[in-house]
Amino acid sequence: MDFKGRDFLSGDDYSNEEIMHVLQTADVMNEHLKKKENLDLCHGKVLATLFFEPSTRTQFSFQSAMLRLGGTTLGFSGPEGTSVRKGETLEDTVRTVEGYCDVIAMRHPEPYSAMRAADMVSVPVINGGDGPHEHPTQTMLDLFTIYKEHEKQFKGLNLAFYGDLKYGRTTHSLCKAATRLGANVFFVSPETLEMPGEYVKIAKENGARVVETNDLMEVIGEADVIYTTRIQKERFPTMEDYERAGKNYRKVDKLMMYSFKKDALLMHPLPRVDEISVEVDNDPRSVFMKQAHYGVPVRMAIISLLLGVV
Ligand code: NCD
Repeated sequence: MDFKGRDFLSGDDYSNEEIMHVLQTADVMNEHLKKKENLDLCHGKVLATLFFEPSTRTQFSFQSAMLRLGGTTLGFSGPEGTSVRKGETLEDTVRTVEGYCDVIAMRHPEPYSAMRAADMVSVPVINGGDGPHEHPTQTMLDLFTIYKEHEKQFKGLNLAFYGDLKYGRTTHSLCKAATRLGANVFFVSPETLEMPGEYVKIAKENGARVVETNDLMEVIGEADVIYTTRIQKERFPTMEDYERAGKNYRKVDKLMMYSFKKDALLMHPLPRVDEISVEVDNDPRSVFMKQAHYGVPVRMAIISLLLGVV
């Protein structure tokens, strides 16, 4: 298995064995983190984080990961203050930044933007979210959370996606990878926010049992993981569309949690807006904060594999 010099643009570019290798490497990183041991694997290396869209977890956990690996970071969060505001193209920005770093993690509002960037430069490019399309490193930490927190792991796991499946890029990447690893998927969304057909098709081709519904109650008793997502307000053509789509979304609260399996996991890529009531935060099945924290060991694994230092 050779990761050195490769990009991380979509889970599709990695085999099941390679995905499992990332998770196992993340597990080793996680053990070091638990013991408060920083590693020196990336000493002298620089990560550039180019975030053209808002981000808290992805950006900071990439930076934290590189710092914990003994490397350094530079970058921007939002194009203000950079030449993008003067009209510079994405292509020119990444070609410039390539000269200042060893690896680039980026987020951009346009689908396939990370792929465009990767075509321009020779340092590895990591896709931290390209519009409503994909978010493959989030998928790796989602898989890592299941790997660590659920006995069943992937084969035969019933994974219910709940929320905005049309624009929610985390659900697109995760449903492809999880079904490839043997999970079944339940797509639960308000009307108009259903999972796009191309992903439903891939899930079926991967041999998954697929259920599509607008009512969470239909599948709740069977779900091993409930993966909740925010209605992606910024992607709607108009505010009216957003309000109409969101009004039938039923929040996860204490009462609803009674219908969950005893060993189910309640996950969310975060940020949460109004999808999960704070009253369930202390339920042992609520693992979404743990999930966010797993972003560090998982991104440590990805960075060090692509830089060829592990
Ligand atoms: C997600 C994203 O940016 O797609 N957040 C994240 O990276 N953890 C989810 C979201 O914004 O709803």
